[in-house]
Amino acid sequence: MKIGEKIIHLPSCSSTNDVLRELAEQGEEEGVVVLAEEQTAGRGTKGRSWFSPRGKGLYLSVLLRPARESALLPLMAGVAVAEAMAEEYSLKIRVRWPNDLILKTKKLGGILCESSFAGSQLSYVVIGIGLNLNQEEEDFPPPLRPTAISLKMVLQRDCHPEFVAGKIFTSLSRWYNIFQARGDEQILKTVEILNQFQPGEEITFLIEEGPVKGRFLGLDSYGRLVVATDSGTRIFTSGEVLTPVESLSPGEEGHA
Ligand code: BTN
Repeated sequence: MKIGEKIIHLPSCSSTNDVLRELAEQGEEEGVVVLAEEQTAGRGTKGRSWFSPRGKGLYLSVLLRPARESALLPLMAGVAVAEAMAEEYSLKIRVRWPNDLILKTKKLGGILCESSFAGSQLSYVVIGIGLNLNQEEEDFPPPLRPTAISLKMVLQRDCHPEFVAGKIFTSLSRWYNIFQARGDEQILKTVEILNQFQPGEEITFLIEEGPVKGRFLGLDSYGRLVVATDSGTRIFTSGEVLTPVESLSPGEEGHA
C-alpha cells in the first residue's frame, strides 16, 4: 500500500503514534496513516508533551514495515517534510539532528519515530510527524513563543492539514523508496545540505549528563552526530542540539 492511500481520520485522540501502534499490533498494513484534528496527549521526544490544539497543527503518524531499523529513519522523514514544504511553499526548512524541523531558526515541527521489535526482528516503525500550521504567535503557550513558529506566521495564510499531509506523503514515499533501496548516502547528503548547522560550527549539545559544547563535525554513515569536544571526538546516537535561544533556557518542557 502506498503511504497515505488509507488515512484514518480522527477528530481527537490521545496520540496518533499510540493509536497507530495498536493498529500495527493488529496487523495493519504498511503505509496506513492516522491523522487527528487534535491530540489530548501528544508526545514529543524525550518524554516531552507535544502541544496539539484542534485545527492549529498537523498531527499524523505513518506505519512503515522497513527491512531494517536505522537512525536514518527520522532523518529521512525530516528530509521528506522539508522537501515537500520547499516544493509547495518555497520555504527553506532546516533539519536539526535528529528530529527537529526548523524554519527561520525556530521550531516548526518534529518527528517522533518509534520502532517495535519481535525479539531481534524489526516488526514495524511508526513515524509521527507534528507540524505547526495555523498558530499565531499568541496561540503558543508563553514559554514556547521564543522558539516556535508556524507556517501561517510566515505565509500569512491558513494551511489545510490534509493538503499539507498529501504533499508530505508524496515526498515521504519517494524518500522511503530511497531508504529501502539502501540509498543511505543520498539521505545523508541531503541531511547535510538541509542541516541547520554546518561542519565546524560551535554547537551546544544536550545529553543526559547535561549540556556539552563542541564543534559540529557532521554525521557518520549511520546518521549519528559527530562532535569535537574538549575531551576528544564523540559520537552521539541520541540527544539534542540546542539553538542559541534554547541554550539560554535549558530544561524547558512541552515543545511545539
Ligand atoms: C519532537 O519532540 O520534536 C517530536 C514531536 C512529534 C509530534 C508528533 S504529532 C503526531 C505524532 N503523535 C504524537 O504523539 N507525536 C507525534
